[in-house]
Amino acid sequence: MCGILGYIGFQEVAPIVVTGLKRMEYRGYDSAGLATLNDGRVDILKRAGKVADLENLVELHPLSSTIGIGHTRWATHGVPNDTNAHPHVDHTGSIALVHNGIIENHAAIRQRLQRDGVAFHTDTDTEALVQLISAFYDITHDFEQAVRLALNEIDGTFGIVVISKHEPDKLIAARRGSPLVLGINDGEYFIASDASAIVGHTRQVIFLEDDDVATVTREGYEVKTLGDEVVEHEIEEITYDIEQIEKGGYEHFMLKEIHEQAQTIMDSMRGRLIMDKGTAKLGGLREVLPVLNNARRIIITACGTSWHAGLVGEYMLEHYARIPVEVEYASEFRYRDPIINEDDVVIAISQSGETADTLAALREAKLRGATVIGICNVVGSTIARETHAGVYIHAGPEIGVASTKAFTAQLVALSLLTLMLGRNRGFISIEEGREFARELMTIPSKVEQILEDTAPIQTLAERYYETSNALYLGRGYNFPSALEGALKLKEISYIHAEGYPAAEMKHGPIALIDENMPVVFIAPQDRIHEKVISNIQEVKARKGQVIAIVNHEDDVIDGMADHVICIPRTLDFLSPMLTSIPLQLLAYYIAVRRGCDVDQPRNLAKSVTVE
Ligand code: G6P
Repeated sequence: MCGILGYIGFQEVAPIVVTGLKRMEYRGYDSAGLATLNDGRVDILKRAGKVADLENLVELHPLSSTIGIGHTRWATHGVPNDTNAHPHVDHTGSIALVHNGIIENHAAIRQRLQRDGVAFHTDTDTEALVQLISAFYDITHDFEQAVRLALNEIDGTFGIVVISKHEPDKLIAARRGSPLVLGINDGEYFIASDASAIVGHTRQVIFLEDDDVATVTREGYEVKTLGDEVVEHEIEEITYDIEQIEKGGYEHFMLKEIHEQAQTIMDSMRGRLIMDKGTAKLGGLREVLPVLNNARRIIITACGTSWHAGLVGEYMLEHYARIPVEVEYASEFRYRDPIINEDDVVIAISQSGETADTLAALREAKLRGATVIGICNVVGSTIARETHAGVYIHAGPEIGVASTKAFTAQLVALSLLTLMLGRNRGFISIEEGREFARELMTIPSKVEQILEDTAPIQTLAERYYETSNALYLGRGYNFPSALEGALKLKEISYIHAEGYPAAEMKHGPIALIDENMPVVFIAPQDRIHEKVISNIQEVKARKGQVIAIVNHEDDVIDGMADHVICIPRTLDFLSPMLTSIPLQLLAYYIAVRRGCDVDQPRNLAKSVTVE
């Protein structure tokens, strides 16, 4: 949520910032801006709209400099207009700052400075911080100290990069709660919210920690705490390639990521199945295995799509590992004074590993003595680093704001965990375990089969793209799939969609059904297939339009539904990995048909680093 980038080195900064911001546009895209230092001057270009609008502005007003900062915004305080766009400058025009996060005590700081005669120009919380740095600079005449003193007065979260014409060969960056990575190259340094913004320039990075302040010059960098103590961080290597963060011939990142799923599902289970023993091994959990095997309860906490994966996990873990599981929205969990015992295991699921509510929930659980495990995609992310142990899902960079391949890879991680715990706890026999492992290995080719022919889904999209509402129904493992299908549709097409457990429909949503209401049933031939058939009949009796996701050869539903989408059969607990694919495609093609910005839907951001 908001992407920030800083550069100091020997190359022209503007193209580096613009390209980097484009790679981080998934984090927010209300407005974008750039500040550089040149001839003792701070130059600023900023504009409401996308990074492409900033790029046009830069072409009209070229800025030549080798030091600068940039920002792509997801508005919190102040509407997204040119004025509220970052970078923000202090009232003397000497210090410029980009910020990701929220300054909670901005109003008090603003009032105090205004009383001292400082004029404010924007509605943002961020301006309070740059003006405060400026006030401290007037006293200390030391840029770094001024930043540190100001940050010590801040309540809230921040990832910042600051430049000052008083010390024109220096970038200062700091973080609390918002991610920042420092990229290191010969004679040049980069600071970014996400390594993907700089991977084209360097693979050597350090991940800054909360309350780190990094001072960077062309000669080197130093990281200190807010309390002014030097800290050393290991230099790490980014392992993915630039191709992985490009569209590779697809029209949208989302479509590319949907089509990558046969591969990403394979990648997330690679080396983790022990076929002869009918179990799984998850290296990242080795140290907490005794606690996990004996857990009295598992609490899964997450947001959005990751929360839906958690719900599938609940069904699997309870059924096969016989451990009571609760799934909690992280935003609720963190504030509701939860009862947590030392033999509870809390699993935080997060694609980005940076979601503020999920992070706060796991910190709360840790404080209360639970063992905390992460299931994350982004390597080195805050959640991955703050948990006691974890499983990476290895889905590769996910750029489309609506999560697709991360969801199915999360399901793989959860099914491996289920298999491992079910075997360790004696609830899955070796034969059953082998069958699960064999079936898991077939999932990538089944996903491939679904993706081979998307034409029927495109035809459906053509038929329904003008609807204003849609209902998604499923039961058992596919109740969460229904929630996820509805979420995908509303996120990217802005059609109102609700997911419900199919049987619960008669307690409310049935009132919505008429001949115009498309109802998507997720109805593979599982344990409760018969029950779902009854629910389909209830919808048909009220003239609803039924679209059913079914297994091949399901003649019963075929004869009943208005449209069927056929997918291969698999074990019940693995079925959401297959049923979610046509749901993703349906949302995608409907959104494209409606002319929506699929990769950057309005008002959303991929990485929600504010509460
Ligand atoms: C945002 C994204 C969703 C995502 C959710 C949780 O809302 O738009 O796609 O599911 O955050 O993100 P996480 O990175 O924690 O999985």
